[in-house]
Amino acid sequence: MTERAEVGVGLLGLGVVGGRVFDELRRNAESFAHRAGRQLSLRAVAVRNPERRRELVGGCAALLTDPLEVCTRDDVDVVIELIGGESPAADCIAAALRAGKSVVTANKEVMAKHGPRLLELARDHGVGLRYEASVGGGIPIIGVLQRELRANEVRCVRAIINGTTNYMISEMSQRGASYQEALAQAQQLGYAEADPTNDVEGIDAAYKLAILASLAFHTRIEPQQVHREGIRSLSARDFQHAANLGYTIRMLATARRTERGIDLRVHPTLIPAHDPMARIDGVLNAVAVEGDLLGTVVLEGPGAGAGATASAVLADLLDVVGAASSAAPRAQSPAERTPQLLPLAEVCLPTYLRLAVPDRAGVLAELGRAFAAEGVSIASVLQVPQPEAANSELPAAELIITTHAGPDGAMDRVLSALADSDSVLEVGVRLRIEGDQNLETVGAR
Ligand SMILES: NC(=O)c1ccc[n+]([C@@H]2O[C@H](COP(=O)([O-])OP(=O)(O)OC[C@H]3O[C@@H](n4cnc5c(N)ncnc54)[C@H](OP(=O)(O)O)[C@@H]3O)[C@@H](O)[C@H]2O)c1
Repeated sequence: MTERAEVGVGLLGLGVVGGRVFDELRRNAESFAHRAGRQLSLRAVAVRNPERRRELVGGCAALLTDPLEVCTRDDVDVVIELIGGESPAADCIAAALRAGKSVVTANKEVMAKHGPRLLELARDHGVGLRYEASVGGGIPIIGVLQRELRANEVRCVRAIINGTTNYMISEMSQRGASYQEALAQAQQLGYAEADPTNDVEGIDAAYKLAILASLAFHTRIEPQQVHREGIRSLSARDFQHAANLGYTIRMLATARRTERGIDLRVHPTLIPAHDPMARIDGVLNAVAVEGDLLGTVVLEGPGAGAGATASAVLADLLDVVGAASSAAPRAQSPAERTPQLLPLAEVCLPTYLRLAVPDRAGVLAELGRAFAAEGVSIASVLQVPQPEAANSELPAAELIITTHAGPDGAMDRVLSALADSDSVLEVGVRLRIEGDQNLETVGAR
């Protein structure tokens, strides 16, 4: 970014976040000029449908439909990418960096899939690429990992980083809503998309965890290296059973360094009711980072929304403008160590199972044998009437089984034996249980 009296800003997208960034830059121009040390001048805006925006943008900036054009304009020094999705956003960011412009983005998909390449491009061209808003909305977790915690060896990152699933889970837990009811409510309030797959299947959280783990462990984590499971199979009854056992359920993203590799997972998890993560409700996000020097720090706050996300985007904007005028720009690129990953089968955690079983003598003994065959030790068994089976011809019961910590792979084998057995009608749900006591791997036992 070249040094000029005014900084030319190009904005891609005028949606939820872009619209708020636009408003703030216009309304508080003087204040931003004071904080940046230079006037920030909005030069061009790109949207898909310009007709709706003509009045809003007026004569204050060029209104275009080609975001690439904004990225290469001579009068633009910094590009703010807020169109979302992989394409054309990734190409736009690359084009801007190649043209010597710093970029601020809130795009987790692009940063998770292309972050290392784009950060390298930024470094090669001597410009900045900031992405604080890509994880946790307004929560300043990227900056904390890059700067404030850089003297620490990070051991573990545990995060609730998808507001949609956390809202749905809160509804199921507090109001006894079914999965479908919680989803409909989230869609009605604008928290969930018409196609909620990215959220409910953990894809969005896996993107964000890949970004956090790459920073925390100074390596390159690809989103597909994160094991993920969604929340579709959860029922309101699971929340009651979990509460009776002293737990609550959260869609937890975990990145943990072990002696045998990095453990990377996104899945619904039983966490102790006293865990700070257990009180993160609704669309709130939280990230807990454990470092060797600091111990554990927990950051929580609004993980989405126009204001919260614009807060992070605008801070990044001020940062790149400031860095351009300082002699020593901050190092940006994560180190390129190839990570050693811990296979999920080797992670040792207790398990929660909800099974539908025939209500007859001998079932428990048969189940016990399947667990014993794999060395998995049962911690508790609770039999409850199975609501759906009330009118079925076969008398059935629901069993809630928890196990002591055991290798995930052994639990897989137990479940496949149960699936073939007459003693199980259906495996309703299998959830992992997290607690301070069970952070171990097969090799560490
Ligand atoms: N919303 C949040 O709370 C939140 C939180 C954290 C991070 N983020 C991230 O912030 C980014 C923006 O999210 P958002 O919620 O603001 O999205 P949004 O409301 O859907 O807005 C997207 C904007 O980009 C424009 N656009 C999309 N594709 C385009 C293209 N090919 N060419 C030109 N313009 C294009 C759209 O134009 P039209 O208006 O003409 O359709 C719209 O103005 C995403 O990466 C998202 O993941 C959002």
